[in-house]
Amino acid sequence: MSASDSQRMEQIVSLCKRRGFIFQSSEIYGGLNGLWDYGPLGVELKRNLKSYWWRVMVHERDDVVGMDGSILMNRAVWKASGHEDTFSDPMVDCLLTKKRFRADQIEPQSGTVIHFAGAIDEQLLRETFDYSFGDIPEPKRRELEEHYRRCKNLDELTRHSDPEVREFAKKRLGEIARPVRIDEPFSVFLPKGKPPESARKVAIQYYQQRGLTNPKLTGERSEKVENTTRYNPENGSLLTEPRSFNLMFKTYVGATEDESSVTYLRPETAQAIFVQFKNILEISRKKLPFGVAQIGKAFRNEINPRNFTFRSREFEQMELEYFCRADEGMKLLEYWREERLKFYENIGISREKLHVLTVPDDERAFYSKGTYDIEYDFPFGRQELEGVAYRTDYDLKQHQQASGKLLEYFDDETKEKFIPHVVEPSAGVDRTVLALICDAYAEDQAPDEKGKMETRTVLRFHPRIAPVKCAVFPLLKNKEPLVAKAREIVDLLRPHMFVFYDESGAIGRRYRRQDEIGTPFGVTVDFETLGEKNAALKDTVTLRERDSMKQERVAIKDLPSILVSRIS
Ligand code: GAP
Repeated sequence: MSASDSQRMEQIVSLCKRRGFIFQSSEIYGGLNGLWDYGPLGVELKRNLKSYWWRVMVHERDDVVGMDGSILMNRAVWKASGHEDTFSDPMVDCLLTKKRFRADQIEPQSGTVIHFAGAIDEQLLRETFDYSFGDIPEPKRRELEEHYRRCKNLDELTRHSDPEVREFAKKRLGEIARPVRIDEPFSVFLPKGKPPESARKVAIQYYQQRGLTNPKLTGERSEKVENTTRYNPENGSLLTEPRSFNLMFKTYVGATEDESSVTYLRPETAQAIFVQFKNILEISRKKLPFGVAQIGKAFRNEINPRNFTFRSREFEQMELEYFCRADEGMKLLEYWREERLKFYENIGISREKLHVLTVPDDERAFYSKGTYDIEYDFPFGRQELEGVAYRTDYDLKQHQQASGKLLEYFDDETKEKFIPHVVEPSAGVDRTVLALICDAYAEDQAPDEKGKMETRTVLRFHPRIAPVKCAVFPLLKNKEPLVAKAREIVDLLRPHMFVFYDESGAIGRRYRRQDEIGTPFGVTVDFETLGEKNAALKDTVTLRERDSMKQERVAIKDLPSILVSRIS
């Protein structure tokens, strides 16, 4: 991320907190990584996004119905879907800091690796020997010293062939708790141009953590390496071998916490649709192709939650499972890719920042015949917003086999029975909200109270998605007729949209506050509204547009229709 992109991201995160879009979850207790709360404006933005998705994907179509499944489902669902066995990431841990990384996200490095055979605390070795055997008379003392030098610690002496040595060692063992020598190898990556001393410092820290107070490194040797991914890019420390880490949150249903009561918080909403396929088919009497849509929470125990809300542990998905015949799958995959791109443009996301990635064969799920990722240029890089995948008949087949219940479709015309295929556009609510905020964030120049230009922060949300649609201001706070008129306008607009009334501060500052939260329209009630200066202007107001800052005079009675048409 460039300095300006990272600064932009910092400004966005700070605005989100300052104006009540997004807060850290459990903030007063220090937060919990990867979890976020949406504040008064964030929740409005999120609801507007979800309602628009539902409107476009369900209400405006004849071929889609909705559902709302439970978050907890029978464990058998996750066994059949493959999540219990395979929904995992290969993880590696830093041996020094214990920080965990996704193995496939470690950038390959070339340079030198310094290997160490172990470390010894010579001072402690001397002290423990004197403590343990200092009072033993010669020649036994010399003999013991020789044994002791050859052994790593007192523990080893307890297995010595000489019973007298064993006795001494056993007696003293309980009294010496700290190790004097560690013979475990450790390696540190040294990037080009860095002195070996920096690698030694890392190794010393490692042996200190393992219990040596003053480690002296032993058996040092160096090796040239190319494109290795075995070392922590942040500190050079060796990483563990990759291990699978299941991303599902495990929980127990009922009073007993044993294997029979295990289930998981759902990691995707899609499975509820597959397991209810037969019920929905029967009650909706839909013919193929048709879809089932759902919006709901999903949970993944992500190893590295990052980039603000982008990768969270609890998030919402908007998913459509669009069932079809096998020969329609590829065509519908293209169709849904285009529909979904149109959706993002219709909520105001710049087309030039949206990209379609064709997921290569070796990165697709084995059952998928084609997957597109719709990506967005976030300040922290180009990242996935939504996946559009042709999942074939894999999921329904798995559930039919595991449950023993037929999940087939009967074609009235051909009299055939078969398991439908499915195309799935799966979008993230939180990622889209973040893209909306990043795309809308702008700074420009606007005149202040005295007409002097100043920098203005503005969220240029599309009106259909903006949290507050219109702000209503009486020009002066203490003039009762102005306030009463403004309140009347609020009541007039409220049945149609979310309106905000504000009477505090200079009018310019009130506009600025609304610009910063992306309110597209501002209505000001002034003395002309009361007809005091010009009778022809009675019951008119100024309507200000956020982006152009242009003002026009409109009749109060026309406000609802003007605003409704501009918002949608
Ligand atoms: N049912 C298919 C499915 O779940 P996915 O690509 O794993 O596919 C779909 O997830 C979408 O869910 C992603 O494109 C993204 O928008 C959102 N998503 C996935 N993991 C997420 C996370 N940890 N935090 C926020 N959003 C996430």
